[in-house]
Amino acid sequence: MCGIVAYVGHREACPLILKGLKRLEYRGYDSAGVALLNGKGLNIYKKKGKVQELENELINKDLHATVGIGHTRWATHGEPNDINAHPHYSNHKKLAIIHNGIIENYDSLKQALLKKGHEFRSQTDSEVLVHFIEDIQQETDCSLEDAVRLALQEVVGAYAIVLMSQDDPTQLIAARKSSPLVIGVGENEFFFASDATPIIEYTKDVIYPEDHQIALVRNGELKIVNLENERQTPYIQKLELELEAIEKGGYDHFMLKEIFEQPRSIADSMRGRVNSQEEILQLGGLRDYMDKLALAKRIIIVGCGTSWHAGLVAEYVFEELARIPVEVEYASEFRYRNPIIHADDFVIAISQSGETADTLAAIQLAKSKGATIFGVCNVVGSSIARETHAGAYTHAGPEIGVASTKAFTAQVTVLTQMAVAMAHKRGTITEELYRQLLLDLSAIPQKVEQVLKAADRIKEIAYIFTYARNFIYLGRGLNFPVALEGALKLKEISYIHAEGYPAAEMKHGPIALIDEDMPVVFIATKDSSYEKIVSNIQEVKARKGRVIAIVTEGDTLIPGMVDFVIEVPETHEVLIPLLSSIPLQLLSYYIAVMRGRNVDQPRNLAKSVTVE
Ligand code: F6R
Repeated sequence: MCGIVAYVGHREACPLILKGLKRLEYRGYDSAGVALLNGKGLNIYKKKGKVQELENELINKDLHATVGIGHTRWATHGEPNDINAHPHYSNHKKLAIIHNGIIENYDSLKQALLKKGHEFRSQTDSEVLVHFIEDIQQETDCSLEDAVRLALQEVVGAYAIVLMSQDDPTQLIAARKSSPLVIGVGENEFFFASDATPIIEYTKDVIYPEDHQIALVRNGELKIVNLENERQTPYIQKLELELEAIEKGGYDHFMLKEIFEQPRSIADSMRGRVNSQEEILQLGGLRDYMDKLALAKRIIIVGCGTSWHAGLVAEYVFEELARIPVEVEYASEFRYRNPIIHADDFVIAISQSGETADTLAAIQLAKSKGATIFGVCNVVGSSIARETHAGAYTHAGPEIGVASTKAFTAQVTVLTQMAVAMAHKRGTITEELYRQLLLDLSAIPQKVEQVLKAADRIKEIAYIFTYARNFIYLGRGLNFPVALEGALKLKEISYIHAEGYPAAEMKHGPIALIDEDMPVVFIATKDSSYEKIVSNIQEVKARKGRVIAIVTEGDTLIPGMVDFVIEVPETHEVLIPLLSSIPLQLLSYYIAVMRGRNVDQPRNLAKSVTVE
């Protein structure tokens, strides 16, 4: 949440920062701002709303500067307005800061500073931090670098910050703890950002600083120290990201592009792992843990939102194939309820961004109890990827649309591969089934391609239901988490109230909602609960509900019972969510577009939830 960009070097800083902020808008879009330093001093411009609003504000301003910092905000402390927008500046307006994260002890720091005569303009925790740094510098007469270090020793919370000072236009100071930060290293120039997307067209050399590290750039030199002022050796790595991966490539929205990328992203999440011809399935990150995993008494899966739904799918697959008990937990609940964790538990943490605060905290808790933690993340080098003992990246490529689509199917693909590998190792599936699953997994990308061909038909259905006020999604078994995910997608981008339920639960309450105005989406593919879900469809039809059914190709029964049908190809039962979830993504997308919603940046949401 919140995106930060900063630059120091020989280029014009402002256009570079604004372009970078637009790429980071998925992290928050409540307000935006820049601070630029030139011979005439420190100029700060901030505006409520999106980066575009800020750009409009900047027309005809003197923006010349080769050093600057910029921020796009997702509000935590203080409402979204011009004053609470970043950058914030110190009492004497000598220092400006951008901050992503939360300073938990900001109030006590603020009270102390108020007593010393500091005047605060905003309600943010971030403004307190910049005042605190200035206060330390003045009181101890130390360098800015030391003042930052001393201040951060006192700070409780999470931060990625970049600071600039009116005194030195060649200098930027950055630091991180539990919030993402990447440093781009160019020729006599440096870039700082929340992720690598603002940097890629300038340099491929990047550093991901560790928690509690401070990076200081001055006169074209970079130095990294820890909070004890010990010099750290930065590890410069090559970015593997390409510019095309973060552009819309002709699609109207990132979300649509990402839905259509799924044949490739699912294939990428199996590349080098599944080889059906040679009958090999290997996840490099799992290799050293396979014996331990095979002996584990239970698996605990933690995640939030869509990642939690991927965990629910995995629960079915692990239990069905590997016959090992699985518990799936909301990370936010798990971390606060003193869970029983044994040293031989295997915890799988799922996160697209790899930065979700609750998931990170759940990992730290489980780790402290001796459990082995395995990460399933999309963002390479993210905090969760680094905090876990081992992991398997999903390799879905950057997901920019705030509503998760291709990351979900990539997570499910990786988790399914884990379950199949484990089942094979434990001998809970036959060799024949193992071979069949590898073949079926390899065929998924092409089958997804086929599902996507139904886009126009789904658009027609979306048109009919554009102004529905509520939706119910029902599924059984593996399609129950798909129902939850379908309902979440619709809620978050169209703002239509939607509920997902296990289909059999309907008669325990939700059936009271059914009437001729209630659209009910059934995920009713041919699987072991097919007959049961057919009965559930009849129960809804008997009460005049309007049914949209996702069915298996060639089904002749359900199409005769329901109002609308969308077909998906046949596959092994445990792989069905990889196909049945896709029409639901498209349905939500088209309804949201028809309602005129901002699909890629729905209200109140952010892509990376780094606050609890
Ligand atoms: C919904 C969505 C969110 C995320 C959740 C966890 O479309 O994207 O529900 O799944 O915030 O985020 P990650 O996976 O980054 O930990």
